[in-house]
Amino acid sequence: MRIVIMGPPGVGKGTEAATLTKTFNIPHISTGDIFRELYKDRTHVGKIAKEYISRGELVPDDITNEIVRHRLSHPDVKKGFLFDGYPRNIEQAKALDEFLEKKGCKLDAVINMTAPEKQIIERISGRRVCEKCGAVYHVISKKPKIDGICDLDGGKLIQRNDDLPKTVHRRLKIYNNQTAPVIGYYEEKGAIIYIDGTKPIADVQAQVMKALGELK
Ligand code: AP5
Repeated sequence: MRIVIMGPPGVGKGTEAATLTKTFNIPHISTGDIFRELYKDRTHVGKIAKEYISRGELVPDDITNEIVRHRLSHPDVKKGFLFDGYPRNIEQAKALDEFLEKKGCKLDAVINMTAPEKQIIERISGRRVCEKCGAVYHVISKKPKIDGICDLDGGKLIQRNDDLPKTVHRRLKIYNNQTAPVIGYYEEKGAIIYIDGTKPIADVQAQVMKALGELK
C-alpha cells in the first residue's frame, strides 16, 4: 500500500499513521520526524531545518525533496510506504509524482483529515512527545500510564517548541496558503479519501480502515 496522509498541523496525521503503518507493515515516512532526527544528530541540514521549523515555516523544497528522494531509495519502500507531512505544496507533489514515475509505481490513496481550527489548537496545545522515541501523547485524549513518562521507553514527555501558540498560528496560515491547494491537485487525479478528524482516535481509525478497504 502506498499512502499519503494530509491535513493541517495537529489534526492527528501522526497518530493515524502510527496505526496504519503497523497494520500494513509499511514504513512511516514523516518529513517532520526526519528533520527532527537530523537536528538531534547535529547535522548541517538538521540545523537549517530547525530554523524554519522554529518559525513555523516550510523547509525549502530543494532540501525536502532531496531527503524524500534519498528515503525512497531505501529497500524497505518496496513493500509500500506512508508519507506523513509530505507533500506540503504543489512543487513537492509534482516532485513526488516524478520520483514514483521513475520507480514505475503510483499512490494507492491520499487521505485528507479535517477538523476545525479550535479543535486543532486544543490538540496541539495538549500534545506531549517522548524526547527519546518521539511517541505522541495528549494531556487529555491520550494520557501515558505514568504522568510525564513515555509508556514505550520511559523517556521524558516534552512539548515541541513549534507547538507554542505564536508558531502554531503561523503553521496554520502556511497550511492554508501552501498545503491546502495540494488537496485540489490530488482531487483532479481522483485519488482522495476524506476523513472526519474530529472524532475520537478509535473512530478515526475505523473510518480510515473502512475507506481503504473499499478501494478497488
Ligand atoms: P510535522 O512534524 O509534519 O508537523 P505537522 O504537519 O504540523 O503535524 P503535527 O505533527 O503537528 O500534527 P499531526 O497531524 O501529526 O497530529 P498528531 O497525530 O501529533 O512538521 C513540523 C515542521 O517541519 C513543519 O512545520 C515544517 O517546518 C517542517 N516540515 C515537515 N515536513 C515538511 C515538508 N514536507 N516541507 C517543508 N517543511 C516541512 O496529533 C496532535 C495531538 O492530538 C496529539 O497530542 C494526539 O495525541 C492528539 N490526537 C490525535 N488524534 C486525535 C483524536 N482523533 N482525538 C483526540 N486527540 C487526538
